[in-house]
Amino acid sequence: MARPARLDRSARPARLDRSARPARPRRSELATPASNEWMFAKAAASDADLVFLDLEDACAPAEREAARGKAAEALRELDWGRTLRAIRMNAIDTRWAYGDVIETVTEAREALDVIIVPKVRRARDVWWVDTLLTQLEETLGLTKRIALEVLIEETEGLENVGEIARASDRLEAIIFGAGDFSASQGARVDTNFDPVVDYPGDMWHYARARVVVAARSAGVDAIDAPFPNFRDPEAYRIASERAAAMGYVGKWAIHPSQVELANTAFAPTQDEIEHARRVVAAYREAEATGRGATSVDGMLVDAAHLRHAETVTRTAELVNRTAELVKGSAVAG
Ligand code: GLV
Ligand code: MG
Repeated sequence: MARPARLDRSARPARLDRSARPARPRRSELATPASNEWMFAKAAASDADLVFLDLEDACAPAEREAARGKAAEALRELDWGRTLRAIRMNAIDTRWAYGDVIETVTEAREALDVIIVPKVRRARDVWWVDTLLTQLEETLGLTKRIALEVLIEETEGLENVGEIARASDRLEAIIFGAGDFSASQGARVDTNFDPVVDYPGDMWHYARARVVVAARSAGVDAIDAPFPNFRDPEAYRIASERAAAMGYVGKWAIHPSQVELANTAFAPTQDEIEHARRVVAAYREAEATGRGATSVDGMLVDAAHLRHAETVTRTAELVNRTAELVKGSAVAG
């Protein structure tokens, strides 16, 4: 009797390199409903660092399955230039989740850079998507690894954000989703997710702080929430600058007009860059003479200031590299 064929594990395709998370700009993440194909060209031509075609809440439930093919075709066919191409899948406790991943990855292949996973509650939600992607990448022979971003927009997700942030080395960013989060918390808010009463302080500060601390601890980016009131650019600018001050590297844009505001708010200003250069130069000069501290403009400069300055310089370099890329070329990494 013939022996049953044995599984030859050595025949498995080589795994994609998992060694390093690429540094990619994420100042603006533009949402576009995946069911609305007439919006795709404008999104592709925008200056957003990332565009995601949304299979979740911006799509009517009856449209969600048909939207997968529309999204994959647009990701493949349009010129997205340097913009990262993403989809937002449906949450893993819905019947659409596996189909969203399998259909869009199979059809879009290397034209899909990032999958955004909404309503993540636990690390195992991320593992589920990671495992499915690993199998798909092997089966399809993809040469590029698909990255993940997760939305923290459930109270349970915020409770578990530390373990979620470390759940997968595909994870590159955590997004604070104020819309669903306020609903999950039972908060009384208006349509811009602001409290309906005169609340002392910032009602979302705790959640925002917890997300950015978890993200930074795990070495991933923190992205701030959508801002529905797209007719108030000044309020969007202020919200962006506050998030940037906390350590967020970008914000969602629910309208193309918000993209430029976010790109500006999350880039260091010329003054910040100039000051950072002076701090680095002064510190290095002090260091060369055996001192660990010096001063710039009459203020102490020590190793902590050097760390700040290097963050500014790194962000400025990333933004500059992005600016040099014209439509038709992709961001390295
Ligand atoms: C985003 O999905 C949000 O709920 O804010
Ligand atoms: Mg949401």
